[in-house]
Amino acid sequence: MNYRHAFHAGNFADLIKHAALLLVLDAMTSDAKALRVMDTHAGRGLYDVGGADAIRSGEAKAGIGRLAEVGAVPDPIAALRAEITKLNPHDGIRVYPGSPVLIAGRLRPGDSYLACELRPEEHQALAETLRGLTGVKTVCADGFVRAADLPSVLGKTLFLIDPPFERADDYIRITETVMAGRRRMSDAGFLIWLPLKDLETLDSFVRSLEEGSGGSILVAEARMRPLTDPLKMNGCVLVLVNLSPAVEAPLREVLKWVVDTLGENGEARLWHP
Ligand SMILES: C[S@@+](CC[C@H](N)C(=O)[O-])C[C@H]1O[C@@H](n2cnc3c(N)ncnc32)[C@H](O)[C@@H]1O
Repeated sequence: MNYRHAFHAGNFADLIKHAALLLVLDAMTSDAKALRVMDTHAGRGLYDVGGADAIRSGEAKAGIGRLAEVGAVPDPIAALRAEITKLNPHDGIRVYPGSPVLIAGRLRPGDSYLACELRPEEHQALAETLRGLTGVKTVCADGFVRAADLPSVLGKTLFLIDPPFERADDYIRITETVMAGRRRMSDAGFLIWLPLKDLETLDSFVRSLEEGSGGSILVAEARMRPLTDPLKMNGCVLVLVNLSPAVEAPLREVLKWVVDTLGENGEARLWHP
């Protein structure tokens, strides 16, 4: 387990994932029904993008660094920029919010949030960041295992599944988590993040989900460059299962803005398998 998100926080993939997360949360909190969010791979919650790891990788500079320099942006990107500005009220960006801070910030009274993080030191930072917030619980545990044990409840559940893809079985475990969640909670929705290297891996994952999930599927591909080298991270993909169709149009704007602004001859593609 070597993956540390501090190297990648605030990069193009986080911009896409977190702008999409805010869209999904806003859609799921637009009526009076309580929402439960299960974040299987939560990370530490807040990232120091002025720290050594972020500076060494340069990914935040090429992502949120560029976002800070440009003027008008599409509304869903502006919504994420507003969250970043709240944490950095003075000049410059030092701190970047991970999924836990964004989710906790959208909870209403009666909503709940379970954040799982396997690495003890990351979990400790996460627990400190979220300490004292109503409806919020963190666990230092395997998120796939906890997702399988999640009691079914009346009301809506959103699963955010964002593994590091260090293990060969991450794709299979995602599919199993979606299938089990859909079987037990027919109204559960899933937001899944994937790296984009080659199309064979993506196609076979989407096919396995199609066979097992039984819900609507939207695939949102951000190709940051042509997919000529399958050993490189050429972009990222969000797969939305059983989520509101209202997020599709604004999500298209997010992908297009990121690909056009931060990519090199890239392409944004949204499709339903
Ligand atoms: C991509 S990062 C998560 C980023 C976070 N979702 C965000 O958007 O801010 C993946 C995290 O999963 C953790 N992790 C790895 N395997 C895990 C597992 N089986 N269960 C829970 N967390 C895991 C890693 O330590 C890492 O912090």
